[in-house]
Amino acid sequence: MKATAKAHTNIALIKYWGKRNEELILPTNSSLSITLDGFYTTTSVAFDEDLSEDIFVLNNEVITGEAYRRVSRFLHLIRETAGKQNLYARVNSVNEVPTAAGFASSASGFAALAAAGTRALGLDLTHEDLSRITRQGSGSACRSIYGGFVEWDMGEREDGMDSQAIQIQTENHWDVRVAAVELNSKMKKISSRAGMKRTVETSAFYSGWLDSIPNDLKEIKVGIATKDFEKVGAVAEANCLKMHATTLGAAPPFTYWHDSTMRVMQTVQEMREKGIPAYFTIDAGPNVKVLYLPENEEQVEKILKDIPDVQNVTLSKIGPGVTYL
Ligand code: PMV
Repeated sequence: MKATAKAHTNIALIKYWGKRNEELILPTNSSLSITLDGFYTTTSVAFDEDLSEDIFVLNNEVITGEAYRRVSRFLHLIRETAGKQNLYARVNSVNEVPTAAGFASSASGFAALAAAGTRALGLDLTHEDLSRITRQGSGSACRSIYGGFVEWDMGEREDGMDSQAIQIQTENHWDVRVAAVELNSKMKKISSRAGMKRTVETSAFYSGWLDSIPNDLKEIKVGIATKDFEKVGAVAEANCLKMHATTLGAAPPFTYWHDSTMRVMQTVQEMREKGIPAYFTIDAGPNVKVLYLPENEEQVEKILKDIPDVQNVTLSKIGPGVTYL
């Protein structure tokens, strides 16, 4: 009744931004990501008949409050799936992702928890089954089950049985790199959950966002299949800007950007003017991820590190899916 799994975080090139069902975590649009090898979570789950409640330890610290309740609720889903409702677990997670700073630690966290938890209870699941369960812990986490290039199909059904991720290319298809530019390690003020809810409910630009998704997905898939970096980068950057534009049209309006976020965005655009192909994308926080090709790695790293307010630049390759240890 014990298992350990490792999962990597992912960065969306076509963003998931909005839920049609909050409880089941069903999205309003399909999304597409790459899994990153630089950021990951390793989680052990041990079910134990002597426990009367779950215990969650993250980076050697016992976690209580809302983070604990989210994990425990998610374990309950796994218990229900396995028909073992009264069995509690000790969860030990080690996170190699700066938490809640726009680096989507929830993605690797819930993917590793789902993989270890289901295996500990002896469930034999396909990757698609596992992705569907993982989705109910954190939406973006359902993409972290797979390595490489991954699409989360929003599905149509109300019960969510067709809303899961699939791999569209493995991590060996194409060597694209990502520089994670860390600007501010403080906790973000508006969670992705709250931000997307407010946007879906109030943004004047939300329908424009949804209308643009099918074409963005189509274009980026052509770019990935043909290894057309300019195309993939341009579509991803434009998609990110549209997502962030919806927050400015919300009531009350908000943004995840800091002044330093914009400085990084401008620097990336200047790199292109100098002939270095690089493109940015940003999640629900101030930090920026920069897509580039291996031959430009040294230059890109140096330019990003020289920007004032940049605390840290971490380089990452495309990473694998869930593994069991
Ligand atoms: O799954 P969540 O609640 O961490 O939401 C993720 C939302 C974005 O990171 C902004 C976009 C995405 O597709 O990952």
